[in-house]
Amino acid sequence: MGQLSLRQSTDTLWTLRRLETPEDMAAVEELQRYIWPGSETDVVPAHLLLTVAHNGGLVMGAFVEDTLVGFVFGFPGLESTSSGIRVKQCSHMLGVHPDYRDRGLGFTLKRAQWRAVREQGLDHVTWTYDPLLSRNARLNIAKLGAVCNTYLREVYGVMRDALNAGLPSDRFQVDWWVNSRRVEDRLNGGLHPQRGLADYLGMGGRVLNAAKWDDQGWPRPPEESAPLPTDDPARPLLVEIPADFLSMKAEQPDLALTWRLHTRSLFEELFASGYVVTEFVHEAGPPPRSLYVLTHGAREA
Ligand SMILES: CC(C)(COP(=O)(O)OP(=O)(O)OC[C@H]1O[C@@H](n2cnc3c(N)ncnc32)[C@H](O)[C@@H]1OP(=O)(O)O)[C@@H](O)C(=O)NCCC(=O)NCCS
Repeated sequence: MGQLSLRQSTDTLWTLRRLETPEDMAAVEELQRYIWPGSETDVVPAHLLLTVAHNGGLVMGAFVEDTLVGFVFGFPGLESTSSGIRVKQCSHMLGVHPDYRDRGLGFTLKRAQWRAVREQGLDHVTWTYDPLLSRNARLNIAKLGAVCNTYLREVYGVMRDALNAGLPSDRFQVDWWVNSRRVEDRLNGGLHPQRGLADYLGMGGRVLNAAKWDDQGWPRPPEESAPLPTDDPARPLLVEIPADFLSMKAEQPDLALTWRLHTRSLFEELFASGYVVTEFVHEAGPPPRSLYVLTHGAREA
């Protein structure tokens, strides 16, 4: 596969480049400890990062002056398709220092990864994330154009780091079709539909599990979700999640577990019925609301 070039890009704040030296990887180890504190066992070590980077993997970093403030890391993987075994990139970690979040750095790192994957001649990238994290959903689905119809239960077993400990490690596995129009439009900064909840409701969309807010301001899922409609498969369906699941996990762990189990059964039913997550809506509120949009049968939508 040969050595890949990564165009070095400079933003007003940060500089992006491929990471390839032991010093670079030591900085990635250090940043992992900061972002996912509490479990040294879960830090991906420099020797593995280096081996991956020298064998078709992609490790990229964003620096402010000489300090690493974000990185993305993935490796080539194999997948079975109807036309045989194919190579994809398996993106394993994306991390941005808390002081630099919500400024587009996560998007910028993924865009660098997108360019490099296309230079490798690949068209598919997969990764997993917790479907109850609204910020990650906004980035992965709405900004990057990934889609999802794969729900994995407790995929990493019991997790030990402070961000993930305490709940079943259920994940969405997303598909990022890097040559699709949907992804190209978003990554090239072109137009893509930025619809709000009212737009989807106006199109006949239905929220399957509208939350109710309790006296303390926490959203609670309904006892029962609405049944999947059988009349019109073209109707978009929406699934609500908490807008701030990390605070809920810290302060209301039982409610967080209720949301995990509630959304697990809903997404499993939707994916088994042919629905695909294609969009994500986040509205500031109050109360803030976060909802996935699912479309029937759309692979790349
Ligand atoms: C997930 C992560 C990489 C995102 O990085 P980032 O630099 O903040 O990403 P971006 O700024 O490109 O995108 C975040 C978007 O979410 C939005 N956002 C912030 N809080 C949100 C919320 N509660 N709900 C919905 N969207 C939210 C931001 O406004 C931004 O969107 P915008 O550009 O339209 O304003 C970073 O938060 C992180 O390192 N988290 C901890 C580790 C992690 O979860 N890694 C990914 C799984 S391995």
